[in-house]
Amino acid sequence: MATTQRSDVTNAASGAGEELAAAGARTLELDRAHVFHSWSAQALIRPMAIAGAQGSYVWDYDGHRYLDFSSQLVNTNIGHQHPRVVAAIKEQADRLCTVAPQHANDKRGEAARLIAELAPEGMSKVFFTNSGAEAIEHASRMARLHTGRIKLLSAYRSYHGATSTAINLTGDSRRWPSDYGSAGVAHFFGPFLYRSPFHATSESEECERALAHLEDVVVFEGPDTIAGIVLETIPGTAGIMPPPAGYLAGLRDICNRYGLVYIADEVMAGFGRTGAWWAFDNWSVAPDLIAFAKGVTSGYVPLGGVVISDAIAADFDNRAYPGGLTYSGHPLACATAVATIQTMQDEGIVENAARIGTDVLGPGLRALAERHPSVGEVRGLGVFWALELVADRATREPLAPFSGTSPAMADVTAACKQHGLLPFTTANRIHVVPPCTISAAEALEGLEMLDQALVAADRHYTGA
Ligand SMILES: Cc1ncc(COP(=O)(O)O)c(C=O)c1O
Repeated sequence: MATTQRSDVTNAASGAGEELAAAGARTLELDRAHVFHSWSAQALIRPMAIAGAQGSYVWDYDGHRYLDFSSQLVNTNIGHQHPRVVAAIKEQADRLCTVAPQHANDKRGEAARLIAELAPEGMSKVFFTNSGAEAIEHASRMARLHTGRIKLLSAYRSYHGATSTAINLTGDSRRWPSDYGSAGVAHFFGPFLYRSPFHATSESEECERALAHLEDVVVFEGPDTIAGIVLETIPGTAGIMPPPAGYLAGLRDICNRYGLVYIADEVMAGFGRTGAWWAFDNWSVAPDLIAFAKGVTSGYVPLGGVVISDAIAADFDNRAYPGGLTYSGHPLACATAVATIQTMQDEGIVENAARIGTDVLGPGLRALAERHPSVGEVRGLGVFWALELVADRATREPLAPFSGTSPAMADVTAACKQHGLLPFTTANRIHVVPPCTISAAEALEGLEMLDQALVAADRHYTGA
């Protein structure tokens, strides 16, 4: 059995090793005593203490090094500690740490210009937030003010963030405890051929039926009551399901016909993850509002925002936009965004993500599916892939339930770590979401680790 890789980052001398282990123990002790974690039963968790990271790797205090196939929370798109971006953060910190949002700031303007330049024609303004959820919150508010309507539609298989509107837009079970039935949100089923809610047998059938269903929901909810549709271009945490050809164009058409604002949630799928700057670039559509976060700074400093169509931005030329944040366009975050985008452009990082998807991860993951019966489906593009694990290929019974934890997935996660891989696992899936900077050699190394770890999933397979 392979053992977790030892890092060369820890000093082999036992004294230094002991010091590091003590620092790790102290980190964990403070965490358990004082840190209240997201989405967790506090007494049941034992977080991994991360001592450091570089490029595609992270390591703990005990000298275990892991290939980061999670990009943390799918946000370290340029890998860990990129020197150019770290230098830009230091430089900005030396020059000017903060400026209130009502003033103009050079880095804020430059970040907005660079982001607007990446967006489709006719989207020239950016409202900055600190997170993806806030981006969704403000995009929703803009759509409501623009249309004078309240209701928003979103997909059941989705995650949009944890603030009030964003969690109610969210389709997965994390919404339930915060859903008071009064948020003005209705849900619909997006396309997902492997688990088709429409009994479709081909991508084109799934597309056609998903669009007919969406239009039915619009008609039956009352088009005049609906402000817009919020859609992850590729649902991320909900399962990485790239939409079939024609779905986004069809949704754009429905929005046009009924006067609805199309809000693209690109928080996870944007900034290179799919091998394109925006995930919707893969299908050549243009939304009215784009919510972004995560990859815009590679998570080095928190930043999110909304790219706004000129028509919606014009609503607020002569009346005040009723919303703001103390840290909207924080200089340290904006300087990070400028450096991140320029680094991605100069180093061809988006192109690398596309190439890794086509040449390494796509074929490599499909080969794993041939060897491991528990892999029911492989889907994705760029560095944005999901392995759908099943207990039975014929019935497609998921290896783990829709929500909560499961012994099978706990085994899979433990096996990944044992083989030196930090995975992103959720429900019955492994999401393969390494940095956009990952090299072909590292991606191949990760595939080998996955190959070994999937043996643990196969043990829970009950099908023929
Ligand atoms: C698609 C999507 N939208 C919104 C969010 C919320 O972003 P944040 O956690 O920065 O608030 C996330 C976070 O994972 C996300 O994946």
